Amino acid sequence: MDFALSESQLMIQQVARDFAQNELAPLAADLDRESRFPHEIIEKMAELDLFALPFSEEYGGTGDGYLPYAIAVEEISRACASTGLTYAAHCSIGTGPVYLFGTEEQKHRWVVPCARGEMLAAFGLTEPDAGSDAAGTKTTAVIKNGEWVLNGSKCFITNASYAGLAVITAVTEPGQGTKGISSFIVPRTSAGFSVSSPYDKLGLRASDTAEIIMDDLRLEQDSLLGKRGEGFKQFMQVLDGGRISIGAMAVGIAQASLDAALTYAKERRQFGQPISKFQAIQFKLANMSTTIELARLNVYRAAWLKDQGLPFTKESAMAKLYASETAVKAALEAIQILGGYGYMKDYPVERYLRDAKLTEIGEGTSEIQRLVIARQLGC
Ligand code: CAA
Repeated sequence: MDFALSESQLMIQQVARDFAQNELAPLAADLDRESRFPHEIIEKMAELDLFALPFSEEYGGTGDGYLPYAIAVEEISRACASTGLTYAAHCSIGTGPVYLFGTEEQKHRWVVPCARGEMLAAFGLTEPDAGSDAAGTKTTAVIKNGEWVLNGSKCFITNASYAGLAVITAVTEPGQGTKGISSFIVPRTSAGFSVSSPYDKLGLRASDTAEIIMDDLRLEQDSLLGKRGEGFKQFMQVLDGGRISIGAMAVGIAQASLDAALTYAKERRQFGQPISKFQAIQFKLANMSTTIELARLNVYRAAWLKDQGLPFTKESAMAKLYASETAVKAALEAIQILGGYGYMKDYPVERYLRDAKLTEIGEGTSEIQRLVIARQLGC
């Protein structure tokens, strides 16, 4: 067993960290306040090849794999979780379905520009009546005059306003439950495709979340992804990978909370000494540091299993569950350590709490992660 990152993984971590701390962190509070999507940051991330990390060279990637990608998501999210979510949703659940299930032609057409960061991608599973019960999909796809015609809507879609493509699930065989759901590659230029105004969210305010509406949306027959009736299973597999990156995002937010709390505790003086000298504060910081390290190990292990081609459904659910709950607790503790200042917008920790909360909800709530883990245990 070797817990050390390789030289190239350490290099990717350093590149992502330097960029995130020097160029992204100074903007993060303003991006959040203004709810501004940072197009210029996305361009720079593309120049650094960050979008290419999880994809093979054949399809425009660097071939580094999922672990280095998860490390980069963590570093980006440590500086700005909104950007971390944009990045994670684009790579793992937006581009991931085409990379995993597309034909050669589909992969060359869509994965290559996505891996180069020339185009953003979105994942369309959730609907107003199909959240945790992802099989409750109401969107339909039928063949008319040699074309697929899609009708329905998808809600809470990350990157919806800016994505060049969305991968969407729709019912093609009504009455057949999960086996009647197929997935489609939907270019945003398709007639009948529209996007609502962005949602007004509690946190992750510089990430884009909107509704996708499909009104007699027409697609060529080769827009079907994989086989008919396999969309649900494909999306479950995609979410297994996505959950690792939400776990990585949560580790980044938790680490940022610890960074802020530790810095503050060393500077803030009460009763004649820095508050870091009080055991009450030391124990909080020690607990935060311990749980963050455990969360990170869980995330790295799940990513490593995926890179090895080994089963990782249970481990990715565990990684997301533990990391997201760690992030919320770490942000709350950071606020407590900063006291009144922690409650103010002048310090970043209130943003960390608002951002962390989503990691317990998106890509499957904590309750769904527990359900997935229990089923993997054979319950
Ligand atoms: N890998 C491969 N196959 C899988 C699988 C996996 N991880 N999980 C399930 N399947 C297969 C099952 O084996 C089963 O196949 P068979 O019919 O051949 O046996 C089939 O899929 C149906 O599975 P279930 O019977 O378990 O399906 P279910 O209806 O009971 O649902 C669930 C299972 C785990 C609750 C699922 O609905 C789920 O994950 N829900 C949460 C959805 C979710 O995470 N949504 C997040 C949306 S994305 C998002 O949030 C984006 C964002 O930008 C923030």
